[in-house]
Amino acid sequence: MQVSNTQSMTYNDGVVRQFSIMAVVWGVVGMLVGVIIASQLVWPELNLGLPWTSFGRLRPLHTNAVIFAFGGCTLFATSYYVVQRTCHTALFMPKLASFTFWGWQAVIVAAAVSLPLGFTQGKEYAELEWPIDLLIAVVWVAYAIVFFGTIGIRRVKHIYVANWFFGAFIIAVALLHIVNSAAMPASFMKSYSAYAGVQDAMVQWWYGHNAVGFFLTAGFLGMMYYFVPKQADRPVYSYSLSIVHFWALIFTYMWAGPHHLHYTALPDWTQSLGMAFSLVLLAPSWGGMINGMMTLSGAWHKLRTDPILRFLIVSLSFYGMSTFEGPMMAIKTVNSLSHYTDWTVGHVHSGALGWVGLVSMGSLYYMVPRLFGQKQMHSIKAIELHFWMATIGIVLYIAALWISGVMEGLMWRAINADGTLTYTFVESVKAKHPYYIIRTLGGLLYLSGMIIMLWNVLKTASSGKAAIATIPPVAAHA
Ligand code: HEM
Ligand code: HEM
Repeated sequence: MQVSNTQSMTYNDGVVRQFSIMAVVWGVVGMLVGVIIASQLVWPELNLGLPWTSFGRLRPLHTNAVIFAFGGCTLFATSYYVVQRTCHTALFMPKLASFTFWGWQAVIVAAAVSLPLGFTQGKEYAELEWPIDLLIAVVWVAYAIVFFGTIGIRRVKHIYVANWFFGAFIIAVALLHIVNSAAMPASFMKSYSAYAGVQDAMVQWWYGHNAVGFFLTAGFLGMMYYFVPKQADRPVYSYSLSIVHFWALIFTYMWAGPHHLHYTALPDWTQSLGMAFSLVLLAPSWGGMINGMMTLSGAWHKLRTDPILRFLIVSLSFYGMSTFEGPMMAIKTVNSLSHYTDWTVGHVHSGALGWVGLVSMGSLYYMVPRLFGQKQMHSIKAIELHFWMATIGIVLYIAALWISGVMEGLMWRAINADGTLTYTFVESVKAKHPYYIIRTLGGLLYLSGMIIMLWNVLKTASSGKAAIATIPPVAAHA
């Protein structure tokens, strides 16, 4: 592409700084609510006897805060950072980009108020009522215009693979949100789904599973493909594999949703289809994981001294682990044991805390000093400490829930010789109590690490100043 390169241009990083700081703030808030609900499962008195602070209302507050506020702000920040650097251009329509920041914060605040008040559509990860859904759609379209507009005005011919993942995440989330949120408003803050019965369930879990595939995976793979090579100072292990990875992953994810509805009224063939595609999904997931890990070829020694790289690489190990566990749980006979148990919650958090959490933290630690004109984060020792607290926290969390999940599953299906149940339900609840205490301790460790990160980020930001990064010159034939 011919480009004129006479004027010096700077990246538009103001909005990246805003999203980065808020990602860390919302991370602390969302995880704090996580620790509160984990404690409520151990000590039910912590529900305080009030509707607003009951488990049923705080649980969706937790999931929305960690996924859409912490994860969402990290995705906005990193995608805006990466698309500018890899396209050698500033953000398209910076005012619209700024609107996406304020609009997304408005969505988060509206969620934080409406969920404890009990307004909900009752669809997991899509609880927010119709006026908030409309605002999400508007912000998302603005996001798409800024992101794809920036790609449109790029000054290099090639579109780097990280942008493919970010782009697929933006398009898929728009599609999922609009289709699953279709509803008939009955009043302000009350609506009824456009679908009924098993169709409603199918649409919901097509949405739910692809929220995992695109919100919690594709965008974070975009981060992996930019920040792992940058931090390791090595090119991506195989660029061809990254392209195969991209197409295989996005094609396969779309079909796996029915594994959330095994042994339900959903037609049996649909359940089997979901199971088969979930098993296939192991291949692209591991292809991507191996591509990220092998990027470290020749640089493994850096893991000894670089805690940021450790965050990024250990996140990939958890990605590998949860994407092995997921396909296994999708097998119907395994699911008949795991479904409704804590095994599912353990699986969720090995992906959420291990993969999504650690890759976000590593990427933010990479960006923050650069965004505030600093050579490095305020305290490297604090990053080191955060890494160990997070890792030990995750291991405590998921190991406790594996044990309690498999245990309760086995207790529920245990049958005496005369055909009666061996255990009452309450006995299974009692047996889980010690594991819930361990999970809460793991969560507390993970949250404490996040609070250290907030301190470190604020210190780095306040001792530096907003950096103005100049776009490098582009060769006439790039
Ligand atoms: C300090 C860290 C965290 C703690 C203590 C925590 C705790 C919890 C608890 C107690 C539940 C409810 C489980 C139940 O209903 O039995 C839950 C659910 C959930 N959390 Fe977390 N969480 C944490 C961090 C995160 C993060 C960072 C994410 C995502 C990025 C996340 C995503 C979820 C999801 C998706 C669910 C719903 C799981 C399901 O329906 O199976 N959590 N969490
Ligand atoms: C190859 C990839 C994966 C497959 C095939 C898979 C499969 C599964 C299966 C079978 C379940 C249990 C459904 C049930 O019994 O209700 C499940 C639940 C879940 N998984 Fe995965 N998983 C994968 C990767 C991941 C990753 C990487 C994450 C997080 C980043 C994740 C997040 C979740 C969540 C949030 C749920 C709970 C949904 C709910 O009931 O609320 N999964 N997954």
